[in-house]
Amino acid sequence: MIWAVSALAALLVLYLVFDNFTVGVNRVRIPSERVKKGLRIVMVSDLHARSYFQNVGKMIARERPDLILLAGDMVEDRHHTQTKCVSYAFFRDVTKIAPVYAIFGNHERRVSWQEEVRREMEEAGIVILENRMITMPVKEEHVTILGLDEGSGLHARFHTKAPQTDHLALLRGCERSSGIRIVMDHYPENFAKAGDLSYNQCAFEVMVAGHAHGGQVRLPWIGGLYAPGQGVFPRYTKGLYREKDANLVVSNGLGGQWYLPRFGNRPSVWIIELAPEKEGEKI
Ligand SMILES: [Fe+2]
Repeated sequence: MIWAVSALAALLVLYLVFDNFTVGVNRVRIPSERVKKGLRIVMVSDLHARSYFQNVGKMIARERPDLILLAGDMVEDRHHTQTKCVSYAFFRDVTKIAPVYAIFGNHERRVSWQEEVRREMEEAGIVILENRMITMPVKEEHVTILGLDEGSGLHARFHTKAPQTDHLALLRGCERSSGIRIVMDHYPENFAKAGDLSYNQCAFEVMVAGHAHGGQVRLPWIGGLYAPGQGVFPRYTKGLYREKDANLVVSNGLGGQWYLPRFGNRPSVWIIELAPEKEGEKI
């Protein structure tokens, strides 16, 4: 009996190591009539300066992305030294692979050394989008990326810059642009849980978000158990959600709450394939 218990405990430990210290790749495909040839996007969120994810840059390079999006919380507010070693090295690694666009999450936003983070990102070549939109050609595509800063939707408690209604005005501007429209916001709940301010009332090919850490603990048939900002049994934790004329891809991120291990929720890099819509194709 004691052998069986020991074997089960050992298996659980091995599983927890796999589920917390190794990185997988998740893929989603989004067809759209606005896509001409196709675009491969890598999305990373919630690195939280975890030192055991130093191979993530190499993983991203193998995917040969056209664009890299960093959806917030790449730094860890409690660990400045670790951030300098891990996050800043990561910034320099990824900008060698493809153009990189980033938004701040709550961790970048609340540290006293925020200007240092900004400088490190910009010197590495990352474009930080704080309530602004950028339009450019990428391969054969015409791409608009709108980065929304916190202070929106359900996250009024972090209110820093733009009032909530400004975000809808920005989204309407993005909606009117030609080609592929990408929205970046750290908080997935802003997609549809913010009432009149919900982003899913606008049309765009994809919104990328993080913050939920996959619900930290994921159970079969139930999904994530808890996410900051969404509470217990959160709605948006991991994967692709389609509502009205908009798509949301939520990264379950890499790091998470240090005091609670992940379970059923392996840290992941996300690959978003934007593809031309075939006749009759709907996702
Ligand atoms: Fe986070």
